[in-house]
Amino acid sequence: MRAEVAKRAEADFGLRFAPEQIVVTAGAKIAIGQALLCLVNPGDEVLIPAPFWTSYPEMVKLAEGVPVPVPCDAAFHPQVAALEAAWTPRTRVLLLNTPNNPTGAVYPEALLREIGAWALGRGVSLVSDEIYASLTYGVEHVSPLRAAPGLMETSFWIGGMSKAFAMTGWRMGFLAGPPRLAGAVARMQSQLASSPNAISQNASLAALRGGLADRERMREAFAARAKLIVGSLRAIPGLQCPQPEGAFYAFPRLGAHLGRKDPASGRVIATGDDFAELLLESDGVAVMGGSAFGAPDAMRLSFATSESVLTRALEKLATRLAALRA
Ligand SMILES: Cc1ncc(COP(=O)(O)O)c(C=O)c1O
Repeated sequence: MRAEVAKRAEADFGLRFAPEQIVVTAGAKIAIGQALLCLVNPGDEVLIPAPFWTSYPEMVKLAEGVPVPVPCDAAFHPQVAALEAAWTPRTRVLLLNTPNNPTGAVYPEALLREIGAWALGRGVSLVSDEIYASLTYGVEHVSPLRAAPGLMETSFWIGGMSKAFAMTGWRMGFLAGPPRLAGAVARMQSQLASSPNAISQNASLAALRGGLADRERMREAFAARAKLIVGSLRAIPGLQCPQPEGAFYAFPRLGAHLGRKDPASGRVIATGDDFAELLLESDGVAVMGGSAFGAPDAMRLSFATSESVLTRALEKLATRLAALRA
């Protein structure tokens, strides 16, 4: 499995790792958690571009570190000026996630070069969560470690099977890093879990060797859904929604709709979470309120479902928003 992951890392992303630099884990989640446990000492600060995936700050806290959210620009890109403003002598790690959950942003190569140069200059390690790497629409994923190769000496690369191969329940992820860091994670994992289970490793091997055409077929399906969902959201007056270029989420801000009332209950919709609850209770449509991602004025819509389900859900969402009253 480690040899196969190393092969894919080179073929897909131009990253060269020896199999010994790969650690296979029971999902990407625990790979990120273990990477942080290895890098972060109590009180160390970890920069996390916001909006961010829900689990990052909690994982940093479990490692007794301090999560530091860093606001992104309007395109949901982290800028070096913002990272520098958040930097302190305690800053140890920058947690990057491209393609991004929840925003769908894919960071351009030029930006990654700037960020990489900054991180190297400041002695900051990256945990580069690239679990959505093969799901991009009209743009190319570039690994931060490829954009700034010096990071290969200091940083962790994270991937897994749950997104590109829809194997979430098989719990199979991996990380790679320089031998010293990968060795530290391997030693930690050998005490905590020994290894992920052999059945999932064999299933993942089969996917990596024989499932690339299916991966591409699903990428095309997601690309069509991304267009569908953003087209519908942008047709709703007052919603602002950047085009997701990767992953499978749209992340609209509720803008002018915030502060309005649901006429039936009289409830004021002050945040994306309020609207998510209303939509779930009234229409049986599940979206995530933005507060879990550090953006309470937004909501996250997953398009990991069929176009027919999405179309019905989007109709209900539009009707529910239109029913809100000032
Ligand atoms: C950004 C990001 N990283 C990591 C994971 C974890 O993936 P896994 O199922 O492999 O643990 C997820 C799953 O939602 C995710 O969105």
